[in-house]
Amino acid sequence: MERLVIVGSQWGDEGKGKVTDYLAQRADVVVRSQGGNNAGHTIVFQGQKFALRSIPSGIFNPKTKNVMASGMVIHPKQMLEELQMLKERGITEIQLYISDRAHVVFPYHEVLDGAYEALKENGKIGTTKRGIGPCYADKANRIGIRIGQLIQPNVFKEALKSTLVIKNMELRMLGLPPFDYDSLLKEYSEYAERIRPYVCDTSVLLNEEIEKHSKILFEGAQGVMLCLDHGTYPYVTSSSPTGSSVSLNVGIAPRYITDVLGICKAYTTRVGEGPFPTEMCEDLAEQIRERGHEYGTVTKRPRRVGYLDAVALNHAKRVSGINHLALMLLDVLTEVPVLKICYAYRLDGKILTTVPSTVEELMRAEPLYVELPGWKEDISRVSSFEELPKNCQAYLKKIEELTSLPISLFSVGPDRMQTIEREPLLK
Ligand code: GDP
Ligand code: IMO
Ligand code: MG
Repeated sequence: MERLVIVGSQWGDEGKGKVTDYLAQRADVVVRSQGGNNAGHTIVFQGQKFALRSIPSGIFNPKTKNVMASGMVIHPKQMLEELQMLKERGITEIQLYISDRAHVVFPYHEVLDGAYEALKENGKIGTTKRGIGPCYADKANRIGIRIGQLIQPNVFKEALKSTLVIKNMELRMLGLPPFDYDSLLKEYSEYAERIRPYVCDTSVLLNEEIEKHSKILFEGAQGVMLCLDHGTYPYVTSSSPTGSSVSLNVGIAPRYITDVLGICKAYTTRVGEGPFPTEMCEDLAEQIRERGHEYGTVTKRPRRVGYLDAVALNHAKRVSGINHLALMLLDVLTEVPVLKICYAYRLDGKILTTVPSTVEELMRAEPLYVELPGWKEDISRVSSFEELPKNCQAYLKKIEELTSLPISLFSVGPDRMQTIEREPLLK
């Protein structure tokens, strides 16, 4: 387990930040693989709470190198503000490395993100409006600007000029005001000066760390069901958060990934639109939302809540190579009288244990559940599996049975200390 991938196994917000921070206490390197400031990763320790959006969650361990990899899209202003916030809150000893190949998010990406959503009569995705989709689209369209270009003044001047011609034309076609070249150049050149000290070829850095047998954690953002390829397309984000995508996103060989830890809520949540087969009735959803503070870290939107979906989990396992589970927010289920786990979908009279590819089918899929009795005891202070109430133990065992995966870690509260490791991870 020298190189462990942390992957969201549902629709995001599973507790990836918490697990990354916890394991980062023994990691030499933590790498944010993809996504941008659409992510919100919460870390709680010593009475302090941090919500990180771009910077890796290993930043609280001064001995850990933190890498923002080439698969990321970086909003310089937001990233620099986050860095400033950390410094102001006493996190001053940091090791940060930013990939010269990561793409830069510009304000026109944010405007276009909002505009494309507004233009859709039906099928709004409910994006975070952080410009993520338009930035990755420019990358694929080969008109994006990378960090390595941003920090070279002459290169940046030319790149911005040619890109802005196209982007301003796109904005005008949508009836939106264009951006002024000179002021954008000035603003981003200032960010470039502040970012430059952190920029390097992070693929070289990571491959050197691998040679040294360093312990490396890869922190995914979002979740497998939001994957551009394997999620509930088109209600997805614009990158691939799967374990399989890590090697491409960070610039290492696939054979260097040793294990994949799927982070999984003890139930399911989803922010934004799109199919959600196990979504529960609003009364129970409300109870869980309040207990689990299920409001988006980035947009503050209330999260939709549902039962655990083992069909979706097995899909995530398959496409992402998950071989361990971390079960999070278990304490939130205390006092829920009956717990349900979806083991199959019924669709057009057929029983399915795989996820259909179209949203239309997934919307019609009827979840089939196993039911288990809940527990009433407060579990927020337990320190072992054996201390959990019997019904809670049975719930964990059922999840292991339905997914054929070991729950190697579980979490009974937001704090770093409320983490129980059943078998050593990142050895
Ligand atoms: P991420 O995006 O996967 O890092 O997850 P978020 O930070 O967006 O959302 C997870 C939320 O659950 C955060 O508010 C965490 O502080 C909180 N959390 C994590 N683990 C636990 C837990 O075991 N119990 C409770 N009650 N809250 C938790
Ligand atoms: P973390 O890393 C939950 C969702 C948005 C929207 C869809 C597309 O904190 O788990 P985007 O802005 O990416 O184009 O939005 O994806 N989404 C997330 N949901 N957690 C996240 O990140 C998310 N990042 C994007 O709500 O439905
Ligand atoms: Mg989050």
